[in-house]
Amino acid sequence: MTVKISGTGSALPEKTVTNFDMAKLVDTSDEWIRERTGIAERRISTKDTVSTLAAKACQAALENAGASAEEVELIIVATCSPELLLPCCACQVQSVIGAPHAVAFDINAACSGFLFALNTAYAYMNTGLYKNALIVGSEVLSKLVDWSDRSTCVLFGDGAGAAYIQTVKDEEALCENGRHSGIESIVQGSDGSKGMVLSCGERGVSNPFANDSEQPSKYIHMDGQEVYKFATRQVPACISEALNKAGIGVDDVDKFVLHQANVRIIESVAKRLKADISKFPMNLDRVGNMSSATIPVLLDELNRSGQLKRGDRLVLSGFGAGLTYGASVIVW
Ligand code: ACO
Repeated sequence: MTVKISGTGSALPEKTVTNFDMAKLVDTSDEWIRERTGIAERRISTKDTVSTLAAKACQAALENAGASAEEVELIIVATCSPELLLPCCACQVQSVIGAPHAVAFDINAACSGFLFALNTAYAYMNTGLYKNALIVGSEVLSKLVDWSDRSTCVLFGDGAGAAYIQTVKDEEALCENGRHSGIESIVQGSDGSKGMVLSCGERGVSNPFANDSEQPSKYIHMDGQEVYKFATRQVPACISEALNKAGIGVDDVDKFVLHQANVRIIESVAKRLKADISKFPMNLDRVGNMSSATIPVLLDELNRSGQLKRGDRLVLSGFGAGLTYGASVIVW
């Protein structure tokens, strides 16, 4: 028995905001943003919410897999920017797509969220509790960004991506190249002691008996250099560990699908792994950093443009606020 990704989907808001548009809002330039981040434009929501984007991505993933919402047993939405605290986004999605038999809940592991959702669903499915799952990364970060802070507002975008995963028998997972579709290894980690290098407040302690003068800032705050150091050190280390666990080397990997935070981080990871940068597909120039949505949106682009063949070996790796990080080796 193995767990394979049978379909992918994504949804992006219509509005494109270029670096030139950003330069009209804050003191920045296309040149600065491209050089430091690799981003040229991003999609920004003018009406879509985390749940509407997530539902559209799920419908597209089900269609791509040839599955129906009726048969979905588990929905996990990874998000750090839900429009409602209650109910959770996964329950909103369940209602919109019509998946009455699903158990639905959210997780928040920021930019590692999709990977952690995939691994959580995989763990459930390995116990035999569920046979399939919709896993989603969906974000509307534009509402968490201080649009007067040039050091953060240029980085982020909105969007959602989803994957439909299923347990299949080993013989059904056998690919032409002799590999079996499925998850080969998982590495995950967290370092809460460094949490405040990338933070965004909601509500602090607030009730009639508390002094509520110290409310956390409700906008994203980031120590960019600390995040850079964390990512360029931790991501190659956890990818190497995941490869070791799977008993393979860098050369056995066809594509490294990394969280799309920053082109310089991805280039540095490639260099440290001694892997060819052409194995690191990127779309951050067009969509920016969409936190938990980056990996599934990129996977969907690769899948729909025919760049993934059954039997290809992929490394998925996420890293972000928490701090959280992880890598999984999968065979497509
Ligand atoms: N346009 C023009 N100038 C800017 C901008 C901007 N958008 N943002 C900052 N600056 C200025 C600063 O004010 C500063 O000016 P000063 O020297 O006069 O004080 C100067 O540029 C340098 O600022 P730094 O913050 O030191 O810039 P740095 O070279 O570190 O680049 C960046 C910032 C791109 C965020 C970098 O730290 C980085 O790549 N960090 C990795 C973190 C990251 O990518 N986070 C994404 C989200 S988190 C995640 O997904 C895991």
